[in-house]
Amino acid sequence: MENTLPAVNGLPELRPMYMSDLPTVVKIIDYYDDDDAEAAEADFHNNGMEDHFVLELDGKVIGVTGYRTVPATDRTCWLSWTYLANTHRGKGLGKFMTQELIEKVKHIQGRKIFVKVSDYDDPKEGKIYAAALAMYQSLEFIEEVRSVDFYDEGEDQMILGLNLSDDASFADDEQKVAEEKPIIRFNGMHEIAETEGAYTFRWEVRNKKKLFGKRNFTVEDLQIGLKAVKNDGGRKIFLTFPSNLPLIHTPLQAAGFKYVGQLTDYYEKGVHEFHFSHDLRNI
Ligand SMILES: CC(C)(COP(=O)(O)OP(=O)(O)OC[C@H]1O[C@@H](n2cnc3c(N)ncnc32)[C@H](O)[C@@H]1OP(=O)(O)O)[C@@H](O)C(=O)NCCC(=O)NCCS
Repeated sequence: MENTLPAVNGLPELRPMYMSDLPTVVKIIDYYDDDDAEAAEADFHNNGMEDHFVLELDGKVIGVTGYRTVPATDRTCWLSWTYLANTHRGKGLGKFMTQELIEKVKHIQGRKIFVKVSDYDDPKEGKIYAAALAMYQSLEFIEEVRSVDFYDEGEDQMILGLNLSDDASFADDEQKVAEEKPIIRFNGMHEIAETEGAYTFRWEVRNKKKLFGKRNFTVEDLQIGLKAVKNDGGRKIFLTFPSNLPLIHTPLQAAGFKYVGQLTDYYEKGVHEFHFSHDLRNI
């Protein structure tokens, strides 16, 4: 897609973000959501600002964007904090900034990029992420998974994906990916950041089978987890697994988990990320 110049005087420039930009960036985000500003600040402190950029216009920082690569995947990335100062919105600057970022991801041979968007409907301001959604769609991102009531009751999460390499889209049956049957065990649960009452289970793969060793998780293991989350005040549980693990489906289904959708080619070509959810209000 051709990058169109925004309708502004001066030449906007995307440059790497430095620690000295942090206060301005936090202020830009804080205009929209103080929780997001706090979370972004903590993220920059904890995970650094590598692969993050600020948009400058006339020597002033007016926007931020960036990406983070996903370890253990084949060149998959997530779009990171992407915000434009309110006074500069609606002139094509957000799209320009995000297009420039996508070019940077292509430059490092990124294969696919995903972004999470909320459909929050503010009682006063309406759908505050409508501009973001419209921008991603105009950049040809496509909705792949919608998790109903993810952030809170009545607030869904949409995950949109964009293929960056020419060979990223192909028919499933063209790709033969070996199924794997490792031992998967749950090893904890937690409320998902930025949500009210949405939980997930942490899990690990144990490849070595001992004679009296651990078995794969069962429906009983899941039921214990469901109860623990419910007792903790949780509303819903969201789980994700790679698509090439056939042993997970029977216990998940038996415990009442529903398949929500997949992030296509998330791990590598032909290995998707399957999303499941369980509504605890039904038990
Ligand atoms: C999202 C954001 C970066 C977009 O930047 P922007 O400069 O306002 O948007 P642009 O002018 O570049 O417009 C990009 C596209 O979105 C469309 N768009 C912009 N605002 C819109 C709105 N309020 N409603 C519907 N469509 C809108 C434009 O028409 C344009 O589409 P086109 O390319 O098909 O013409 C900016 O609005 C912002 O910072 N929003 C608040 C923070 C936010 O939601 N961040 C994302 C969190 S996931």
